[in-house]
Amino acid sequence: PELFRLISTYDLEEVAQNTLTAKAWAFYSSAATDLVTHRGNSNLYRRIMLRPRVMRNVAEVTTKRSILGCPSSAPFFVSPAAMARLAHPDGECAIARGCASEGVIQCVSNNASYPLADIISSGTSTQPFFLQLYVNADRAKTIQLLHKAHELGIKAIFVTVDAHVPGKREADERIAAENVASAISGAVASNDKKGGGMGRLMGQYIDKTLSWTDIPWIQETSRLPVVVKGVQSAADARIAVSYGVKGIMLSNHGGRSLDTSQPAILTLLELHRICPEVFNQVEVYIDGGIMRGSDILKALCLGATAVGVGRPFLYSLCYGQEGVEHLCEILKDELETSMRLSGITDVDQAHPGLVNTRDVDFL
Ligand code: FNR
Repeated sequence: PELFRLISTYDLEEVAQNTLTAKAWAFYSSAATDLVTHRGNSNLYRRIMLRPRVMRNVAEVTTKRSILGCPSSAPFFVSPAAMARLAHPDGECAIARGCASEGVIQCVSNNASYPLADIISSGTSTQPFFLQLYVNADRAKTIQLLHKAHELGIKAIFVTVDAHVPGKREADERIAAENVASAISGAVASNDKKGGGMGRLMGQYIDKTLSWTDIPWIQETSRLPVVVKGVQSAADARIAVSYGVKGIMLSNHGGRSLDTSQPAILTLLELHRICPEVFNQVEVYIDGGIMRGSDILKALCLGATAVGVGRPFLYSLCYGQEGVEHLCEILKDELETSMRLSGITDVDQAHPGLVNTRDVDFL
């Protein structure tokens, strides 16, 4: 269909399912074992109710937000996702161009299909980028990558801590992997007896010894702000803060790692109640299951600085750069509508009083 006929993330998802190769769809859409966490990520947003305020003059509204000091036209960014080239020949470079014209920040995956320099030079010269890091068991390779990131002007390192071993993504295992490699990590997907799971096959270089004491090493080596991606409890949020990180990203890898781990929005609620001081110490991001502008608003009301969007951007790539731009417009538009109908005109005005979380009060 023509792009303008697609009016929601779900429409883009449907087109992706019908257009992508069976393998690309399986890799992108799959999640671990019974998909409990994956579905819960999204479903829990539906169980949080908004409590709109009225009569507030909402004629002028802005979705602008600064993320780690970088200007962004919206309180969302592109979550790092591997191998965008499976959706479009220009892969991550098309995402970079779309983000440039939309003023949205892209967090580039350590397993991107294109070299980092190519992705960055696809955008405009002032465009901020973040880089996601999987610490390599061969630490020399990580040192090299972090130095390159610094040279290329990357604004922050998001170190992923929830995928040191791969979750069991059965839909992806069942289809043989094509012979593809990441231009950043060098990881290749070559099938073995367990199946063709791309995340598993490409993740074999990831260091399973990684622990909190490695954070200062990453900070010193990169000389960049570090964000820990994959925090799933208040206890770990506190530890991350004690190591001087600049942000924490509440994430369960889109339900692709440990199935039945709690949906990310529950971790946000947990922080809110158990360690609310964290919100004043670091920026808090969240991803997993964001499909609607109202999901974004709910996360902001509960203290998130910004949200990450993963799969929908891969799906939008079926239309290349234009698809990426279109998805940004859909999300901004839905967010603006949700803000106006909730009685706020600036993302800074989002606050817990605008949501009713009683139905997900599991703590
Ligand atoms: C991911 N994710 C991911 N995360 C990461 O830190 N490094 C990576 O290379 C990847 N690769 C990747 C590939 C694909 C196909 C998906 C779907 C996801 C996880 C990603 O950053 C993010 O946490 C989730 O995608 C968020 O959930 P939603 O928005 O997809 O529901």
